[in-house]
Amino acid sequence: MKTEQIVRTFVEYFEQRGHRRITGSTLLPPADDPVLFTTSGMHPLTPHLEGRPHPLGRRLVNVQRCLRTTDLDEVGDATHLTVFEMLGTWSLGDYEGPVSLDWGYGLLTEGLGIDPGLLYATVHGGDDRTGPDTASLEFWQGRGVPVELTEQDNWWSNGPTGPCGPDSEIFLWSGDTPPRSTPTGDDRWVEVWNHVMMRHRRLDDGSLVPLPQRNVDTGLGLERLASLLQGTSSVFDCDVFDPWHRLLPPLWPLDERSLRVVCDHLRSAVVVLGDGVRPAHTGRGYVLRRLVRRVLTLLWRDDPTRGLGDLPPELIEHALDRFGQDMGSGEVHRMLLEEERRFRRLLERGRQVLSRPRFRGPLGEEDFHYLHDTHGLPRDLVTSLLHG
Ligand code: SER
Repeated sequence: MKTEQIVRTFVEYFEQRGHRRITGSTLLPPADDPVLFTTSGMHPLTPHLEGRPHPLGRRLVNVQRCLRTTDLDEVGDATHLTVFEMLGTWSLGDYEGPVSLDWGYGLLTEGLGIDPGLLYATVHGGDDRTGPDTASLEFWQGRGVPVELTEQDNWWSNGPTGPCGPDSEIFLWSGDTPPRSTPTGDDRWVEVWNHVMMRHRRLDDGSLVPLPQRNVDTGLGLERLASLLQGTSSVFDCDVFDPWHRLLPPLWPLDERSLRVVCDHLRSAVVVLGDGVRPAHTGRGYVLRRLVRRVLTLLWRDDPTRGLGDLPPELIEHALDRFGQDMGSGEVHRMLLEEERRFRRLLERGRQVLSRPRFRGPLGEEDFHYLHDTHGLPRDLVTSLLHG
């Protein structure tokens, strides 16, 4: 099943159950939000989860682009991406958790044809603040889906304060063997859909108070589900990355993990640029800069003559199209090249700095910090400059 078809099936399924589709927002949260990027579908809906009525009612569905820097070091494995799409549904003080889980189960098994024997659920087992989520537990037991109870893993919040609650996560078996173990015991159980019973607000002092309404917030990682439904071994092999697979390896022969990181970071950088962020030494612009520099570091590790001038415009267009962004691909390409030039100049300076006697011997942590903080030279680049 192609990604587009998954999106259509998802949205129609929830529209048939009274949900109205809302337009996904950009990656940039509102100006007064301390978080750098939109990290989940619920993020732009925070005021409505806190009680402000939504103009389209109490049942919503959407597709939201998200960016997570917390997962940056995991990018390159089978399941993590920096920018990804999240399919989401919300009950704003309308139906309760078990109804949401019932629809989730129905969509996965009937709508998308997943074998129920490949599912596992996790549920909040209770802690010193709240009791166990018995409603979710009983729902899964009634469906014959195995359940694992956890504490921290089944509590979701978007930050240290604000709306939060216990969640029930649905995992899908990705192994070649019959399912075994549990989601926390075997990482071939891949989390696909999180249903958060969002009915608490955490205050500055860490205490929990009830929100004015009992919400349900769900989020399903599109590329993850697509790769599982398409039977591919990683998110990078699902159809979203088709043109990247076709065009990049002949251009830049890289080991598999580096290729994944290059695809992920370039695609993410294009989308971040498309949402209006520009490279900078702090904040969002710094995240963008890090993405581009990590790509260049990987490309230049084997061959310093490689460059983003060779990046096929089709890939930039593909990313901008996928996320419905208006910026021209030429403009995005120009900004990427400008950033590449800036980085090359920095490296030249880096080489000069590294030729100083202080850096002749093996480098210590302090040297790495100094080179990074004062000269903006990442550790892997310093290492390759010294050993290259
Ligand atoms: N907010 C939850 C998540 O991001 C569910 O949408 O996982």
